[in-house]
Amino acid sequence: MAEFTLPKNSKIKPGRKVDAAKGAKRKKTFKVYRYDPEDKQNPRLDEFTIDLDQCGPMVLDAIIHIKNDIDSTLTFRRSCREGICGSCAMNIDGRNTLACLKPIAEVSGDVKITPLPHMPVVKDLVPDLNHAYAQYASVEPWMKTETPAPTRERLQSPEDADRLNGTDGKGPSGCILCFCCSTSCPSYWWNPDKFLGPAILLNAWRWITDTRDEATGERLDQLDDAFKLYRCHTIMNCTNACPKDLNPAKSIAEIKKLMVERQT
Ligand code: SF4
Ligand code: SF4
Ligand code: FES
Repeated sequence: MAEFTLPKNSKIKPGRKVDAAKGAKRKKTFKVYRYDPEDKQNPRLDEFTIDLDQCGPMVLDAIIHIKNDIDSTLTFRRSCREGICGSCAMNIDGRNTLACLKPIAEVSGDVKITPLPHMPVVKDLVPDLNHAYAQYASVEPWMKTETPAPTRERLQSPEDADRLNGTDGKGPSGCILCFCCSTSCPSYWWNPDKFLGPAILLNAWRWITDTRDEATGERLDQLDDAFKLYRCHTIMNCTNACPKDLNPAKSIAEIKKLMVERQT
């Protein structure tokens, strides 16, 4: 039987414990993954017990409180605090999600926070997204046309716009590139170098299904690959993980269907 052991420097060690909620009525402990490539130490899990009356209701509020008032070295991404920029994606209580949309009250017991899984870590909760964005660039996520540009914008019917936005607002154009889906996909964990993963494939579909785009054949040719597309085995983790309730698995299925249709 094959035996798997983690390299010594990847094991997560217990970190420091800080109780910053002495005398507080509502306390909560956050166990936060810490890693600094410059100190050459193993990652560790620091524990911060905070007074919930000192911060807002979301996990991001707690992390901001910890950074502002307890440990300014804690590193994470965030911008909008509204579930729009996608930058605060992380693993909270075992699920990939957006820290700004995750109520602290939804987590019973301690709140464990780690970076998005199976991505290299730049520092603490910040994953290295360079590879994911290179894959995004590879599907050429912009409108490609050959017909001359009209004097005004290229129009779409409401029905055609629905293909992008979804009649329920949950179409592929709603993707905020948070990568919660790709980093919950086992196929992407094992083949991130060759499989494009659900986030990128959903965005590829966004352009394929855009009736103004004139490069459908070229886009399908580019995706017609045993690894880039067909490593998806319809496990559906991606759709379950999407904090915007989009359906990347369906977008992938639509691409596969078009592949078949153009061969018949
Ligand atoms: S359906 Fe499954 S295998 Fe396909 S992209 Fe989603 S999680 Fe990955
Ligand atoms: S499909 Fe959903 S989970 Fe995936 S990157 Fe887009 S918004 Fe994030
Ligand atoms: S801070 Fe922008 S999505 Fe959370």
